[in-house]
Formats: sequence, C-alpha cells, structure tokens
Amino acid sequence: MAHPTESVSLQDKHYFLIRRLHSLLGLVPVGAFLCVHLLANATVLAPGEPGGEFQKSIERIHALGPFLVPVEIVFIFLPLLFHSLLGFQIVFNSESNAQQYRYGSNIRFMLQRVTGILAFVFIFYHVWQMHWFGKPVGGGAFELHSESGAATGAITTAQAIQHAWWIAPVYGVGVLSCVFHLANGLWTSLITWGITIRPQSQRIAGYVCATFGVILGLIGMGALSGFRTFDLKSPPPVVGDAHANIADHEH
Ligand code: HEM
Repeated sequence: MAHPTESVSLQDKHYFLIRRLHSLLGLVPVGAFLCVHLLANATVLAPGEPGGEFQKSIERIHALGPFLVPVEIVFIFLPLLFHSLLGFQIVFNSESNAQQYRYGSNIRFMLQRVTGILAFVFIFYHVWQMHWFGKPVGGGAFELHSESGAATGAITTAQAIQHAWWIAPVYGVGVLSCVFHLANGLWTSLITWGITIRPQSQRIAGYVCATFGVILGLIGMGALSGFRTFDLKSPPPVVGDAHANIADHEH
C-alpha cells in the first residue's frame, strides 16, 4: 500500500507552505504590530500634558522619515494583504478547511473567521479615516503636526473618534475583533507549528492566550476611551519636533 505522503502533490506542498506563511505573517509582523500600535495608542492615558506622551511615541515612529512609508508597506500593509486574501480564501473554502482543522471548539473556529472578516472591514475603514493614504478620498484625519508645527497627534485622533456617535462603538467592535483574532490565532498557531501537541499543553496555552487577549483588549479599550473622552479644547503639548517646528516657524 502506498504511504500517504507519496500521494501528496506538489500543489499540496505549496499549499502547506502558503498556510505556514499565512500563519507566520499573522503573528509577525502583523500581530506584533497590533500589540505595539495599541500600546502606543494607550499612552494617551499617561499623566502630564494631554496627549504629550502619545505625541512622543508617534514621533519616535515618524523619526523613520522617508523610510516610514516603505517600512509600512513592506512590513505592515503587504503582509496584512497576503494574510487577508488567503484568509478570505480559507473562509470561503471552508469545506476543505473543515477537514484540515481537527482541533479546537467549533465556536472559536467560527469566531476566528468572523473576526478576520470584521478586522478586514475595520482596518480598511481605520486606514481610510486616519492614514494620509485616505486623504484623496476624504479621509486621512490624523495630523502629527499642524501647519504651524503644533503637536496635533492626539487632538486630530480624538476629533476623528468623536466626530460622530457611532465611531467609538465601531472602533470598539473592530479593535476587539482584531484582539480576539490575534489571541485565538496565537493559540491555533501553537498547534499549527507543532508546539502544543498534547491536550494538556493546549489547555495551558489556552489560559495563557486568553490572559494575553484580555490584557491586550483592556489596553485597546483604554486607548479608545482615552480618545473618546479627550478634551478637544486642550492646548497642544510642547514635545520633541513640535518644539523645533514652532521655533522654525517663528524665525
Ligand atoms: C489585525 C490583523 C490580523 C492579525 C493580527 C491576524 C493574525 C492571525 C493569526 C496569528 C492567525 C493564526 C494562524 C494559525 O492558526 O496558524 C490567524 C488566522 C486566520 N486569519 Fe488572521 N489576522 C489578522 C487579520 C485577518 C484578516 C483581515 C483576515 C481576513 C479574512 C484573516 C483571516 C484569518 C483566517 C481565516 C485564519 C484561520 C486560518 C486557519 O484556519 O488556519 N485574518 N490570523
């Protein structure tokens, strides 16, 4: 009788590698970026000048200068696009997928797919609303500095979040979808990569991933409430580049 691996076609081998790449990209860089991004946003809650710490943390990222856009494209947008397109292929090809997935509860299996789709729609909206990519089509609300060089990172973010009553709830659902998707995805990826094989190690990993998800969810919701309640009349903080830009402007 032929060994089962002998019948594995080249196409299957490619598919196996593509699935591993899908898993890897979900963790690094996309998942890692999500953690850093939510942590940076949560600095809006830091004491001191309103939005001062948030401005500093975003300025550290913008210090990449002309490298920022290529870094964003190569390390965030392209990996996310690949993960999402293959994700949709997996979701809409669930027949073959159901045979491959032998583990996990059906509810979490289904939620992983639902939150993937919600995350996609939300990230699309979020990038349009905040990123300058969205400017030509009426978005791109986030401005790190005003024309006069004032530090406007927190205030422009808060204005966008407070622009209409439904925006904060949309962010709540979107961010929690991303967080659940990452935390549950972390648990499934440990199985994908053969790290948790026995039911006992999967159970322990379940507690660890759930704790991670709760902490990240709290960080994300903390950041959201910080921008939701940010006083739009607060003066711009005086930090980093803002100092230099204001000085430039005055001369
Ligand atoms: C915040 C952005 C995202 C992050 C951090 C992320 C992360 C992850 C991780 C870590 C996994 C686990 C991989 C594994 O089991 O080996 C995963 C699985 C999955 N992701 Fe994402 N993902 C994101 C966005 C998306 C989007 C936009 C979609 C589009 C539908 C998607 C669809 C899927 C699907 C279908 C799975 C399950 C794959 C399987 O059954 O093997 N993800 N994701």
